[in-house]
Amino acid sequence: MKKLILPGCILFWAMATLAIAQSQGQLLTNFGPSPSTAAFHEINGLFTGDWQQYGQLFTELQSKIFSQIFLLVVTVVPLIFLLHYLVIGPMIFSHEGRQIYYFNLFARCIHWCAAISFALLVLTGLLIIFGSLVGGGVLLRSGRTVHLISAAIFSVSALFMLLIWAKDMIYAPYDFMWMLIMGGYLSKKKKPVPAGKFNAGQKSWFWLATLGGMVMAVSGYFLYSFQGSPDTLRLSAIIHNFLGAAMIAVFIVHLYMSLFAIKGAIRSMISGYKAEAELTILHSRFKF
Ligand code: HEM
Repeated sequence: MKKLILPGCILFWAMATLAIAQSQGQLLTNFGPSPSTAAFHEINGLFTGDWQQYGQLFTELQSKIFSQIFLLVVTVVPLIFLLHYLVIGPMIFSHEGRQIYYFNLFARCIHWCAAISFALLVLTGLLIIFGSLVGGGVLLRSGRTVHLISAAIFSVSALFMLLIWAKDMIYAPYDFMWMLIMGGYLSKKKKPVPAGKFNAGQKSWFWLATLGGMVMAVSGYFLYSFQGSPDTLRLSAIIHNFLGAAMIAVFIVHLYMSLFAIKGAIRSMISGYKAEAELTILHSRFKF
């Protein structure tokens, strides 16, 4: 009898193991329909929201649309103004005669801080967008650091610009007339245009650069610090890219106006003085 105990135990253990394995197998195979990608999508959605949908939209914008918009902005906008330069040509005013003090030293210093930091932001921003074309690596990482430092300098400069110029930049009724005639820039004739110390175009650039600059700083902070939910980060990236492209487009216009469209305009941002001959045409409502 004793001899039968051990084989009996082994037989019992083997049968019990088989029975358990069989029941487990049935449990596993009988657990609902076989899981599909859609089922996993649904389960994921319970935890993370509709991430695949937004993720896909965001990935497409990030991988194709944004870079195309930036490429369009840096090629088409300069081409349009090249055409303007060739067809209409620059405005030329005498820099002799009475000179009017227009930009004080503080305003000029703040302007150049904003100008240099913004130019670096544009260059390094484009480097980040098209980084893969230049091989990424150290160049891209350094570009990112310069982007960050320039953003801090630009944000402070933009705040000072708001303090210095916000009052002068409030739109006046005649600004709408200026917009209607596009500041007279589509004509070769030099007729006085309705504008005070700053024209409607300059005012629009000012508000875009300062208030837009603040929005860029906040959305950029989210992107850099990687704080917030995935949707906050995606929204920040979308705003940062679209607004960034608009700001670059208008910055190119500002460069064209300051360096090419009005001959010698750059002097006023260096010396602070503008010639009376220029003011009577381009800023006819300004009292000096
Ligand atoms: C390197 C780039 C830049 C150059 C060469 C430049 C040049 C100039 C010049 C020559 C003026 C005087 C225009 C005039 O009254 O006839 C001016 C004005 C001004 N700039 Fe810039 N600028 C540059 C970048 C910037 C940036 C980045 C900002 C944005 C914050 C800015 C904002 C302004 C504003 C608000 C004025 C006064 C209104 C106006 O003339 O548009 N500038 N700039």
